Amino acid sequence: MSSIPWWKTAVFYQIYPRSFQDSNGDGIGDIPGIIARLDYLRDLGVDAFWISPHYPSPRVDDGYDIADFYNVHPDYGTLEDFQRLVDEAHARGIRVLADLVLNHTSDQHPWFQASRRRQDPYTDWYVWSDTNDRYRNARIIFLDTESSNWAWDDVRKQYYWHRFYTQQPDLNYDNPQVQEEMLNVVRFWLDLGLDGYRMDAVPYLFEREGTNCESLPETHAYLKRVRREVEATYPDAVLLCEANQPLDDLRAYFGGDPADPSVPGDELHMGFHFALMPRLFMAIKRGERTPIVDILRRTPPIPANCQWCTFLRNHDELTLEMVTPEERAWMWDQYAPEPRMRLNLGIRRRLAPLLDNDHRTIELMHALIFALPGSPIIYYGDEIGMGDNIWLPDRNGVRTPMQWDDSPNAGFSTAATLPTPVIDDPIYGYRRVNVAAQQADPDSLWHRLRRMIRIYKALPALALGDLAFLEDQPPAVLAFRRHWEGDTILAYHNLSDRPQTIFLPPGQDAMSGQTLSAGDYRLPPYAYLWLRATG
Ligand code: GLC
Ligand code: CA
Repeated sequence: MSSIPWWKTAVFYQIYPRSFQDSNGDGIGDIPGIIARLDYLRDLGVDAFWISPHYPSPRVDDGYDIADFYNVHPDYGTLEDFQRLVDEAHARGIRVLADLVLNHTSDQHPWFQASRRRQDPYTDWYVWSDTNDRYRNARIIFLDTESSNWAWDDVRKQYYWHRFYTQQPDLNYDNPQVQEEMLNVVRFWLDLGLDGYRMDAVPYLFEREGTNCESLPETHAYLKRVRREVEATYPDAVLLCEANQPLDDLRAYFGGDPADPSVPGDELHMGFHFALMPRLFMAIKRGERTPIVDILRRTPPIPANCQWCTFLRNHDELTLEMVTPEERAWMWDQYAPEPRMRLNLGIRRRLAPLLDNDHRTIELMHALIFALPGSPIIYYGDEIGMGDNIWLPDRNGVRTPMQWDDSPNAGFSTAATLPTPVIDDPIYGYRRVNVAAQQADPDSLWHRLRRMIRIYKALPALALGDLAFLEDQPPAVLAFRRHWEGDTILAYHNLSDRPQTIFLPPGQDAMSGQTLSAGDYRLPPYAYLWLRATG
């Protein structure tokens, strides 16, 4: 298996640095805190983690508004701390991805401050205009807060372009200096030993009149250039694409030839499967497999040197941009009955509350992202079924401190008060839901997911195999075959709250090791069975 890149068989984990572990008692999670928890990640069994932005930032968009690409936010530590994080993770066999925000900076970034004053070389580093009516076909992404993609700057007496918050001016990729400088950023962290990037908001790099300014050919050309530069010097590094786009546009980020999957990808190695994610939630609520089967049938094949990344939740709202208006209304109705639970075109809730705190479905949804094609990523806290706090603004409610134990502040911090409070309600509060309690209980969600990770690693067909649906099953059962190099796994998932009878060929239950003979098999509500075919 030596020619298979590590990320094709890896289990990923997402860390929100502000909320993972505070090491110095200031109430803010930091890098030394993450280092202190690396053994936890190793015990859980993850191979790699992505850390959301760690750069200096005024934090209007919680770090996605970067004020210096070459340093660490003082709340989180120093460059030396970051270096130590990478080294200590590597010493445990864990890889590290950081966020790479190419599209924009903070308005506090010295480049933008210089650009406002027309100071060279920064004069044309941002997208300036005398009028605010260019690029009218570009949608507004932060619908709840922004009314235009243009903002007036009183110093320069011009408008500047921004796809996200007003305080996040877009860089001007038509300027070769910007292109060069961002490649320097890419190299800087890889030189420290970083293993790759989660490529933030890549569709928006270039703007062209008469288009929606998303996924333009110029944008793909630049991303291919990033890939070439990375591959030449850091052949093991991975670029993971965040493009919340329609399926065909999503496929384009792998590069190669969209019409011919045998042509190797030459753009981003991996991509979040944004189309699959909401369909998993539709299927489990409806108790039947059609939404998942439909979307995977419509998913274009990708080159062999690429990989999807399958996910359930992350630090953002559960986005419903890529479903029909009817589906969105249904999802809001089912999963976000209270207006406070909605944000932009999505749902700002965590996995456990979305699934009514039912550990069977939380485990089943993880089984789906593990068994379907793609490398799975776990959002911190979902492995213990953490809750959310819909009373906090923006997406902060799904970014609350990690619940380590039942001591004050959940073992997250020794501070007297926390900027983001720990969840302390009767159901999801840290006294009940925490890592220590679940580690002590062999039947807990944490132990179940830990076992799942171990089994997954013993079944390379789940990471690498091809996919064929097994249609001859009750509608509530999503069943498929994954096959890779003589290894065949049959995976059955009961999406409903009633037992289902399925017909099995002979095989071995991968979870228990038990041998099962051919015949009828009763799959309990929300249970799954991964069968190693022996017949
Ligand atoms: C991505 C991030 C999101 C951020 C946005 C702007 O979508 O996931 O948190 O607000 O990009 O950088
Ligand atoms: Ca701290």
